[in-house]
Amino acid sequence: MPAFPAMEPYSRHMLICTGESCSPERRGRALYARLSELLEREGLLFGPTRVKRGETPCLGVCAGGPIVVVYPEGIWYAGVTDELLERIVVDHLKNGRIVEEAVFHRLAFDS
Ligand code: FES
Repeated sequence: MPAFPAMEPYSRHMLICTGESCSPERRGRALYARLSELLEREGLLFGPTRVKRGETPCLGVCAGGPIVVVYPEGIWYAGVTDELLERIVVDHLKNGRIVEEAVFHRLAFDS
């Protein structure tokens, strides 16, 4: 059996699409570049409230981007601008308040 890697605790995972089908100017790349400074500013880079982040070439939506998704809630945001990204970080990731007006889909949970 291979040795398992160590993983620090974290609270959420955010994925940003950097592809060009949802955003022809690939604005997701600039959002992803800015994300780490926002997370650092809000104290979300380390410790149990840490937010893991990732960039991906496509999230399978391919319209209305840049597209951003936050887990574990499975909240999908469309048309994410610099200003909206900052609101998502502060309101949703830090304070747990989803930015409802920018949500276009949410994960369906079985209960
Ligand atoms: S290219 Fe962004 S969702 Fe497919």
